[in-house]
Amino acid sequence: MASKDKGTSLSRRGFMKTTGALGAGAFLSQNLTSSPKTVEAQSSRIREPRTGPLQTYLTFSDDPVTTMDVNLCLQRKDAESAMVYYDTVSRGGDKDAYTMSCKAEHYQSLLELWDRRSLFRADLRGLKPGTTYYFIAGDEKYGFGEERSFRTLPGGDAPVRFLNGGDMNVGPRAEKLLQYAGQQDADFLVIGGDLPYVNGLYFDYWKWIKWFQLQDKLLHTGGRMVPLVTAIGNHETNSFASDDLFMRSPFYMTYFGRQNQGPESVYHSHKFGDNIALIMLDSGHLIPHAGEQAQWLEQELEKYKDVKYKFAAYHVPLYPAYRPFDGSPSVAAREHWLPLFDKYGLTVGLEHHDHVFKRTKPLKGNQVVAEGEGTVYIGDGTFGVDPRKMDDKPLHWYNEKQSGTAHFWVIDANKDGLELKAIDENGVEIDRFSL
Ligand SMILES: [Fe+2]
Ligand SMILES: [Fe+2]
Repeated sequence: MASKDKGTSLSRRGFMKTTGALGAGAFLSQNLTSSPKTVEAQSSRIREPRTGPLQTYLTFSDDPVTTMDVNLCLQRKDAESAMVYYDTVSRGGDKDAYTMSCKAEHYQSLLELWDRRSLFRADLRGLKPGTTYYFIAGDEKYGFGEERSFRTLPGGDAPVRFLNGGDMNVGPRAEKLLQYAGQQDADFLVIGGDLPYVNGLYFDYWKWIKWFQLQDKLLHTGGRMVPLVTAIGNHETNSFASDDLFMRSPFYMTYFGRQNQGPESVYHSHKFGDNIALIMLDSGHLIPHAGEQAQWLEQELEKYKDVKYKFAAYHVPLYPAYRPFDGSPSVAAREHWLPLFDKYGLTVGLEHHDHVFKRTKPLKGNQVVAEGEGTVYIGDGTFGVDPRKMDDKPLHWYNEKQSGTAHFWVIDANKDGLELKAIDENGVEIDRFSL
């Protein structure tokens, strides 16, 4: 299907003019895709800022009540003193007016092999709970971005709202869902893998650019950024033979491999105030379910055993709604993780990968149990990708509900209980239940 397209006929000068030096890699990558139509559509979408950070996003590696990690992808690693300037009142981007500042440290990563863009992170610490902070980020050489804001978690037993979805990609369905997600005023978003479907390949890196841009446009409503808590999916990894996690998953690990205290890791856990613990797992994409990860899971569940609401999020479901129940990653998870989920009374399992909607009955010991006696598993990851058809699938013995509907979850936690609802791509609530 090879055919000439407009891109390949451009002179180098014209090409640089069209894309800017920064867009060069993305443009080249697009010209290697199969269809001329696709090339045109993609290249018209990808424009990156000429000053300020190329990407700005928030993660947690410490207590979300008093800390925030501001991640910056800057144009080069020679950025001069990359900084975040911040304050509890808006300063309209006037750098000198912000009363607090934090230096962003450079992390060398394989992202620098793309077009020398480099990752930095400012670890903001000692923040006030439940407070909105306004900030600008960047450096003297390449400039600062416009003012953005974030809100720390309230702490204690104050209500918390978070979102969950997975299997996003960067198409129109992802845009629709992100728009409704942006309207939820959520404290954070839990993404269960398969983010932009780049498969750890430089060829498709441009989709990461688009993925971050969609969040800026749709999720971070009014400039307030929603922090991301992520798990890895199969589409974050390549098939390169290596034990190095960064080689196997160069972009995911670069962007999201530091959501923990201590060395880089693909699994991590977080506590959001008194009542919510969240354990993020790798369902066998870089690290096997068994062994070290299962031991770590038990240690975390033990640590959080007195926390009221315990969540685990991971890519491949223990209770798949579309794929076979006896698929090997699901079997491995039920063998190595399920006994621990049961032993410590996991409240909710956040599952993905199957590209459908489902909610299970309460389950324990791989059986349906009475309400309040087991774990409810919700999923299965259609936060942007096309849902699979479920019309000819009989209702699984473990499912309360299932359908081929794209959606994301809104989870409200307060001291009296949990309320969970699913929102579809038209903004319509398709499920609601309480625990
Ligand atoms: Fe997926
Ligand atoms: Fe997947």
